[in-house]
Amino acid sequence: ASLQPHNTFGIVAKARTLVRVKDEEDVQQVLEHAQLGGEPKFVLGGGSNIVLTGDVKAVVLKVEVPGKRILEDGPRATIVEFGAGENWHDAVTWTLDQGLGGLENLALIPGTVGASPVQNIGAYGVELQDRFESLDAIDLATGKLFTLDASQCAFGYRDSVFKHPPGREGDLGLAGRALILRVRMRLAKPWKPVLGYVDLQRKVHESGVDHPTPRQVYDWVCAIRSAKLPDPKVIGNAGSFFKNPTVTPEQCQDIIARDPGIVHYPMPDGSIKLAAGWLIDACGWKGKSVGQAGVYEKQALVLVNRGGATGGEVVTLARAIQTSVYERFGIRLEPEPVVV
Ligand code: EPU
Repeated sequence: ASLQPHNTFGIVAKARTLVRVKDEEDVQQVLEHAQLGGEPKFVLGGGSNIVLTGDVKAVVLKVEVPGKRILEDGPRATIVEFGAGENWHDAVTWTLDQGLGGLENLALIPGTVGASPVQNIGAYGVELQDRFESLDAIDLATGKLFTLDASQCAFGYRDSVFKHPPGREGDLGLAGRALILRVRMRLAKPWKPVLGYVDLQRKVHESGVDHPTPRQVYDWVCAIRSAKLPDPKVIGNAGSFFKNPTVTPEQCQDIIARDPGIVHYPMPDGSIKLAAGWLIDACGWKGKSVGQAGVYEKQALVLVNRGGATGGEVVTLARAIQTSVYERFGIRLEPEPVVV
């Protein structure tokens, strides 16, 4: 089966076996299958956070679990539940259609609901973990169904238990082991907008609106993203290609002394977060390419497929960027998508 339609980078690759799973029974069937049961598995959602560098030998489980519903409407919060196969942005839009605010800052993030906890998606001052209630998953090693709350998910910046190898103290280490079936979100009452992010501040200012509705914030987020992030349906990409690195205040002072323009944000724990996009931009990478893999013109943190790029070209470009940022700033950029 071709994986090209199943990765937003649009890289050409094949899977020996691709199985679409709509519920836990479909997963059980694969696990109990005489031949497929014993083979390694690879869980695929919307394919918006992977770089394929070759054909996939593992059995690809394409998660297509449907469903969007209000589970509980209490005095302090509404709990909504989504099937893991639902498109994330459509799920966000659906909550707004129900008159529910809380997810609007996360509008237009590519991918599926099931992938959202894996990397704890975040944008414009809100992370998935801020709205997360719980999830159901199936253990691919044992076939057992289990539920995790937020603390068991061990969320971090673009990180969770689903990316951790086993063996860490006090952590379930579920990398490669779990298939997420359903995700529940807690939307608190009363709704409070999160407008701290500079681009949103500008929108508030321009609109002259004092008390925006969830729908207005949603529209602003969509407008901001469309202006600087490429639409994967038009130009293949996997969103930000690197995580924003954190440094000590001393390291930051050092860089500021040489590059006063560096974009940096103080973190609650005393460290300083740097804008990786700025670092890459400062090294002159915007618009550059390796083969058909390129650095997006409007956002240097996004690598794009200019048409027919291979995973190898993307990885080569990423390494070249890492080297030049390291040579100039002494900072090692860590990739954000999973290289397969
Ligand atoms: N910048 C440049 N040049 C560039 C790109 C950025 O100078 O080419 C500067 C900008 O001027 C800005 C700063 O860097 O001052 C930050 O840029 P931006 O606001 O675009 O956000 P980001 O830090 O690059 C992060 C997330 C995005 C998320 C946005 C908004 C990560 C790795 N990325 O990007 O998430 O949408 O903030 O909250 O944390 C993703 O994870 O795939 C993703 C798109």
